[in-house]
Amino acid sequence: EQVRVFAPATAANLVCGFDILGLALEQPGDEVMMKRSDKSGVRLLKITGDDGRLPLDPAKNTVSACVQMLLKHLGREDIGVEIALHKQMPIGSGLGSSAASTVAGLYAINLLLGEPLSKHELLPFAMRGEELACGHGHADNVAPSLFGGITLIKSYEPLDVIQLPIPKDLYCSVVFPHVDVPTRAARQMIRSKIDLKDAVIQWGNIAGLVSGFFMNDHALIGRSMKDVLIEPTRAILIPEFYEMREQAMVSGALGFGISGSGPSVFAFASSKQTALNITNNIVQHLQSKGIDSNGYVSAI
Ligand code: HSE
Repeated sequence: EQVRVFAPATAANLVCGFDILGLALEQPGDEVMMKRSDKSGVRLLKITGDDGRLPLDPAKNTVSACVQMLLKHLGREDIGVEIALHKQMPIGSGLGSSAASTVAGLYAINLLLGEPLSKHELLPFAMRGEELACGHGHADNVAPSLFGGITLIKSYEPLDVIQLPIPKDLYCSVVFPHVDVPTRAARQMIRSKIDLKDAVIQWGNIAGLVSGFFMNDHALIGRSMKDVLIEPTRAILIPEFYEMREQAMVSGALGFGISGSGPSVFAFASSKQTALNITNNIVQHLQSKGIDSNGYVSAI
């Protein structure tokens, strides 16, 4: 018995919602092939598309480690599975690469076992994968990768995840400039204390963005895409960040910001053509500065 599972990349934070908002992209994403074997234990047979960067040791790789955790939880460590991970997206990109692999792996093992757990029950295992990957078990990549659409982590303790409505005709441009920004480092540089006046601006924007999703109000979505807490610090790690914003806005973006912990950036647009133009113009701008990049367009 063999299953093949695709899990999508994600844009986490959605500018103002650090660690609480995220959405699933149509592309890129990761694929996991998994099959039962007679020999008990979790084996990671191969990884493709990672340029040799990911560990093949089943205890260290987030996919196999999370599968092991799940089998232990279910008391099914007698089972044998063989895993092949096909990375079809960049690592360290801010597009939830580790999350997509982990979610695909957990979904696959759950399928092979006849779906003993719901998606909500799988989520904490995926969060432990994030902890392994970057030292912190945030859910804003794994939740949208697992559930699809736009998700809100209403609280971590207790874990409370809300699926938000998907506004009509909303498209997402994503560009990954080829520089490495590890999430672990990008988290360590953020201030842990904030001013009340900044908090007021931030939660106004989060409420505005979520209202915009509910009200199908693209203009409200756009003017809520502001981050006074994290972006000013993290933008330093991203080459041409403010120039990319300028390119996005003159190309018709509703709003623009960092995807996850960067270096990828994303923009919302009201048509597929506008989203394509935004992506192309940012890619071309980076090229003119000698920076290679990957560009994507997704319907939300
Ligand atoms: N919320 C996380 C962060 C997402 O910004 O560090 C990481 O992709």
